[in-house]
Amino acid sequence: MIEIAVLGHGVVGSGVAELLLKNASGIARRAKTEINVKYILDIRDFPDCPYKDKFTKDFDVIVKDADVKVIVEVMGGVHPAYDYIMQGLRAGKSAVTSNKELVAEKGAELLKTAKENGVNFLFEASVGGGIPIIRPLHQCLAANEIDEIAGILNGTTNFILTKMIKESMPFDDALKMAQELGYAEADPTADVDGHDSCRKICILASLAFGSHVYPELVHTEGIRNITLDDVLYAGNSGCVVKLIGQAHRTGDGKIFVRVGPALVPHESQLSSVDDVFNAILVRGDSTGDVVFYGKGAGKFPTASAVVGDVIDCINARGNIDSLYWTDSGKDNVAYAKSESVVMYIRCAINRDVSAEKINDKFGGVTFLSHDGQRPGEAAFLTAKMPECEIDELAEGLSLLSKIRVLESE
Ligand code: HSE
Repeated sequence: MIEIAVLGHGVVGSGVAELLLKNASGIARRAKTEINVKYILDIRDFPDCPYKDKFTKDFDVIVKDADVKVIVEVMGGVHPAYDYIMQGLRAGKSAVTSNKELVAEKGAELLKTAKENGVNFLFEASVGGGIPIIRPLHQCLAANEIDEIAGILNGTTNFILTKMIKESMPFDDALKMAQELGYAEADPTADVDGHDSCRKICILASLAFGSHVYPELVHTEGIRNITLDDVLYAGNSGCVVKLIGQAHRTGDGKIFVRVGPALVPHESQLSSVDDVFNAILVRGDSTGDVVFYGKGAGKFPTASAVVGDVIDCINARGNIDSLYWTDSGKDNVAYAKSESVVMYIRCAINRDVSAEKINDKFGGVTFLSHDGQRPGEAAFLTAKMPECEIDELAEGLSLLSKIRVLESE
């Protein structure tokens, strides 16, 4: 029997405990041993919980218990999660986490410490909830150079956008539903403003390109400014609006990473990914496009990824060294606005700014329309050009929206 400790008894933590009980025999067969949760760490009391005798508020009890071989961290936030995991790794215990903020901020350091101590730091659940993506990237696709990663990485915003597109539901109502369903972060601004997607694309880019990508270096936009008008113009141009995280290498060896809403053409495999579902497209130089699709948030999908990692820790012979990247400093990220894009722009039309003037200014645009189009505004697609040039050309316009169009290859 292997003893583990679970730090945090929220949505995911309780899911881990329940899943270990529900699927105990299959899990034991795959781990070749039974797994027992010896401790649950939480600052709150759970007097009615069936495993109330397992609760402790003292991490020292866990780290000093030599029987505990794996620590599962599902508390969220960087501190004290980082401090607990560091202590655990140094004490020779493997660690599993669903905490994308922690991995995106401290991944390189934690991976190095795990390696130095001959144990593992695994984080499959940190990206894509129940979708296997971390393990495929460093194992199944290991023979590839990764040319591109593009994904819908946040269930909450995809749920909100789907409700806006399909039911014309107001943003706030859709967000409330996502919170009730347990998809949203404790502070849902991390979802809505793109930070959660940013952390996830940083983890994928770090793993794919071998160098830690820090979230603060990544151009990140959320979906707060997307309106039903944008959704309708997009629909009439054969696109849906999605929040997309993207990463690839640039010609000068840097890493391009960006998060923002995008008009996704119907031909793209990402366009039909709705509700809480996530999808991650990985373009390998040998495989071509591979798409990973599934539930990107929620109690049991995320718990499934966590428990899978626990089983891997138990089965591993020492450190799994293909799961690794280095901390290469903070000058490894490319300036995102030098990339060429097609841009959707919605702006006010008035005496000074006519459709003709817009067309001339941008060297030819494609105007869009929808049935309920408001008077006094225009929406159009630019030609493909560097985003910084589009920004210069758009100076002087009363901008209502500016959304990139995702290239579908
Ligand atoms: N809040 C996240 C989401 C949870 O909506 O995708 C899973 O990381």
